[in-house]
Amino acid sequence: MTLDSYLEKNGYSQDLRDLIQVITAQVQPIKDEFLGGEEKAGTYNIYGEEQIKLDKRANEILLEAFRNSNLVKQVASEEENEVIHLNSKKGHFGVTMDPLDGSSLIPTNLTVGIIISIYKNGEVMSGLKNITQAFYILLGPLTVMVFAGKNEVAEFLYNKEGIFDLVKEGIILPEGKIYSPGGLKNKWTDAHRDVIRTLQENGFKLRYSGSFTPDFHQILNYGGVFTYPALTDKPYGKLRVLFEVGPMAFIAEKAGGAAIDGKSRILDIIPTKVDQRTPVYIGSKEVVLKIKEKLSLK
Ligand code: AHG
Ligand code: MN
Ligand code: MN
Repeated sequence: MTLDSYLEKNGYSQDLRDLIQVITAQVQPIKDEFLGGEEKAGTYNIYGEEQIKLDKRANEILLEAFRNSNLVKQVASEEENEVIHLNSKKGHFGVTMDPLDGSSLIPTNLTVGIIISIYKNGEVMSGLKNITQAFYILLGPLTVMVFAGKNEVAEFLYNKEGIFDLVKEGIILPEGKIYSPGGLKNKWTDAHRDVIRTLQENGFKLRYSGSFTPDFHQILNYGGVFTYPALTDKPYGKLRVLFEVGPMAFIAEKAGGAAIDGKSRILDIIPTKVDQRTPVYIGSKEVVLKIKEKLSLK
């Protein structure tokens, strides 16, 4: 079954199906930019990170597609300084994007991704509780999409014709023992150090690539926890609420997992700024809840 037939079968609106089609049609053009895409662009984003050409091209390609679609009211992108209001008469969706997640892995040819969330109410700053669909596209040996909407998570594989075909539906994030610990160890807080020590003592296996999308994908498949915690010099950690953590938290919860900032549920965040960051612990429900308990004792 194709992605579009899956969306139709599950009762998504024609507009939503059109929007997903607009986004998936950009996958090949973005993949085509990989050759030479690792070169530095000579510019910096709002986080002070030096952009590579691929970050900029993926952003431009998607943005242009949204402009032409007449379906989108607001776009927020990790590579833009502020929310972009599109003046389309018909457009009513809000979209957030990390056009290229894990860009430091492009020069080493490792898996990266595109992370998207959709707000049916059109308002990307209205709070993560208003996300209605979220998905990521893994650009690895295979091109794969993991889509969450309503109460269901499904995986699709990009075929030779450039169409996403259903591979699995009803995906459940299992309890498991992978851990993916971000952030410099010498900047971890004592409380976080303790959490990691407990995972290690309980036989958790380390898997960390430096790109949230494939790292989270492993957790979705095998269970465990991905964390990018509060650091002694960065109390909000590194990852971004709107573009990275919010969409993945939505996917994790729809698959029966959990996502917290240490104390509170990620999906309860109402961001006050477009570049807001948050610490995150995301993965198997029981593992994340145990971490929450442990951190609350500190
Ligand atoms: P981006 O390439 O979109 O800037 O995101 C990189 C993020 C995320 O994908 C990853 O989990 C994290 O940064 C890695 O950070 P470290 O290099 O500090 O491990
Ligand atoms: Mn990212
Ligand atoms: Mn990015």
